[in-house]
Amino acid sequence: MKTKILQVHPEMFQNEELREACSILQSDGLVAFPTETVYGLGANALHREAATKIYEAKGRPSDNPLIIHIANRESIYELASEVPAKAEALADAFWPGPLTMILPKAERVPASTTGGLDTVAIRMPSHPVALELIRQSGVYVAAPSANVSGRPSPTRADHVIEDLSGRIDMIIDGGEVGIGLESTIVDLTTEIPLVLRPGYITMDMLRDVVGEIMLDPAVDSRERKPDIVAKAPGMKYRHYAPKGQLIIIEGEIQRVISCIHGLVQEKQQNGYRVAVIATEETKGAYPADIVYSIGSRKSEGSIAAGLYDILREMDHLGAEYIFAESFEDDSLGQAIMNRMLKAAGYHLLKA
Ligand code: TXA
Ligand code: MG
Repeated sequence: MKTKILQVHPEMFQNEELREACSILQSDGLVAFPTETVYGLGANALHREAATKIYEAKGRPSDNPLIIHIANRESIYELASEVPAKAEALADAFWPGPLTMILPKAERVPASTTGGLDTVAIRMPSHPVALELIRQSGVYVAAPSANVSGRPSPTRADHVIEDLSGRIDMIIDGGEVGIGLESTIVDLTTEIPLVLRPGYITMDMLRDVVGEIMLDPAVDSRERKPDIVAKAPGMKYRHYAPKGQLIIIEGEIQRVISCIHGLVQEKQQNGYRVAVIATEETKGAYPADIVYSIGSRKSEGSIAAGLYDILREMDHLGAEYIFAESFEDDSLGQAIMNRMLKAAGYHLLKA
């Protein structure tokens, strides 16, 4: 299959530019498109064949449910059989934006989209291209991240091209995304809302709107807990992972730096190709030829935005061991550490 690449300006595009992408979605094809979090791989959420194509293109297990993207808040009543007041309050506060809500599914949503669950994940993205694509096509768009299953989510069109070129109909290149980590997922089918995946919308932001909330115990962890099953099926897979072994080192920063120096030396002596993931503040403390800066510690947003690109860069380098500094586990840092720990297979050392 030849994959068409469509370049659009993320804000100043003409609606007609998306016409072909819309007709692909209307005829059950696959279109990758930018959202404010990561690039998504879209197909018609209400057609079983379309969802099946997504699983094939990604090489994704079909028990892993998809998020349905909408362009109009009212669509939630078409896709969910019940919308509690807390869900309405969250939609008012955070939509359009990087929040996904889990609700009881409506009859019309096929089991192929929800991985056989009787709940459905719904999100209204804020990216202008995503919104216009959904609005103009008139399609409810099921979209997982547009990466091959297990690889880091794409934050630029060339990441999507790397993974899915030749396997999908079209890639809309709308430039680099803003946030760089997948949406926060909140389950509203329980009495107390449960965060299944941390993201840009933090626990504190959610609490301000709905009061008490909880974090899925399978996610709230610096260690893998094999006996607890994550409620979001996708959170159980090894994810976001570079091909080399990523190891995260935490502790007081000077000790972290000297610990990483020792580890680098040991692996290099054994003939391995080694890389270090540091920050703007610390990159000068490591050998220049192997250090990569993920962003500034002063801005968690820049670290979130740079994480997946740097993990992909590690693959391009052929790094066999990757040593990374750790980050504060609060607000946006919670989402950053969640993705880093999963990418590292929970390899965490204390300096
Ligand atoms: O930011 C995002 O959410 C991006 C963009 C494209 O919108 N999408 C994304 O989709 O990250 P994906 O498929 O990579 O991750 C969806 C997650 C998976 O962990 C999946 O298991 C979970 O959402 N999920 C979907 N439906 C669910 C449901 N009914 N119950 C529990 N978890 C669900
Ligand atoms: Mg994904």
